[in-house]
Amino acid sequence: MKDFAVRLIRWHQRHGRHDLPWQNTTDSYRIWLSEVMLQQTQVATVIPYYRRFLERFPQLADLAAAPVDEVMALWSGLGYYARARNLHAAARAVMAQHNGIFPRDPDVIARLPGIGRSTANSIATFCFGAHAPILDGNVKRVLCRAFGIEGFPGSGTVQKRLWALAEELMPKRHAAIYNQAQMDLGAMVCTRSKPRCESCPLDDICVARATGRTAELPQAKPRREIPQRHATLLVLLDGDRVLLETRPPSGIWGGLLSLPELPDGADVQQWSEQRFACRVIAVTCPRSGSPGTQSEPAPTLVHAFSHFRLHITPLLLQVTRGHAAMEPGWQWLDLAEAGNAALPAPIRRILDTLQTSGSKPLLSRKR
Ligand code: ADE
Repeated sequence: MKDFAVRLIRWHQRHGRHDLPWQNTTDSYRIWLSEVMLQQTQVATVIPYYRRFLERFPQLADLAAAPVDEVMALWSGLGYYARARNLHAAARAVMAQHNGIFPRDPDVIARLPGIGRSTANSIATFCFGAHAPILDGNVKRVLCRAFGIEGFPGSGTVQKRLWALAEELMPKRHAAIYNQAQMDLGAMVCTRSKPRCESCPLDDICVARATGRTAELPQAKPRREIPQRHATLLVLLDGDRVLLETRPPSGIWGGLLSLPELPDGADVQQWSEQRFACRVIAVTCPRSGSPGTQSEPAPTLVHAFSHFRLHITPLLLQVTRGHAAMEPGWQWLDLAEAGNAALPAPIRRILDTLQTSGSKPLLSRKR
């Protein structure tokens, strides 16, 4: 796109931002500070922090000489605190390794703590007239939409492609205005939601606009597939008493009371009779009250954990207890009492929705 940069520079003259507190200066300390503050934070939030910071630390040497705790305190509320720690470390590095003079070469700037390639290039263009492209979140969005670039822009391959494109589009002159124009276009027009395409200088050449894909580009980070796990939980009922087990201290529901879990592939009747020294009179599905058969699977409920989804099949077993010793952590609780025990939410739901075959609730919780 031959006139990409020309369009942006022209647009910036009329519609871009020209009076931000860190503009109209080439002071590297001020520009560096603003670029770090703007890394993950919007302009309006940054401005008061930027002003307070400069009042307290007017020069890079003042920042380097300050205790880090004071820097952190001034940063407090701005978020992403590693930025403040890195800023302080970088100030000390400039004092110690560069005689207090901020380096001019983008590759050298990028080796300071907390400064990546894009931030180094912005500083170098704004302060020293370097000819270096930028690629922050706003610019990635503009490029992905304008050129119809598919794939998540944070991925290695897309990132590489975007840097190559950014290099290629870099105009021979006005690097600083062009870089500022891209940031401003991304922040003011080519916004993440509801972009103002009708006011965009790239309107007639934008691939996303032409193909109706502004809402899909840039593509979101692909979601990890969530693992699915399955568990058959047993509601052993002896009259009005239900058997609950204390979960081991680590793992899901650690230390809470839960229903016993049928091991994979075990025969429900045989396993339950052996394990709990009881006689199984009937096995039913608690929700429907109908017998659970191979051909008619029992109803399941799904519980989402942060890293997997658990599909729970509850089975209701009417039993009579034998006289075997109880294991530690087992409790036969009255159903009404069980409703008040320390239960995980899905177990509570199972006990709450327990129905007799005549759909009469077996359990009413005391609250
Ligand atoms: N975001 C990052 N750098 C910026 C700058 N110089 N002006 C406005 N927004 C920015």
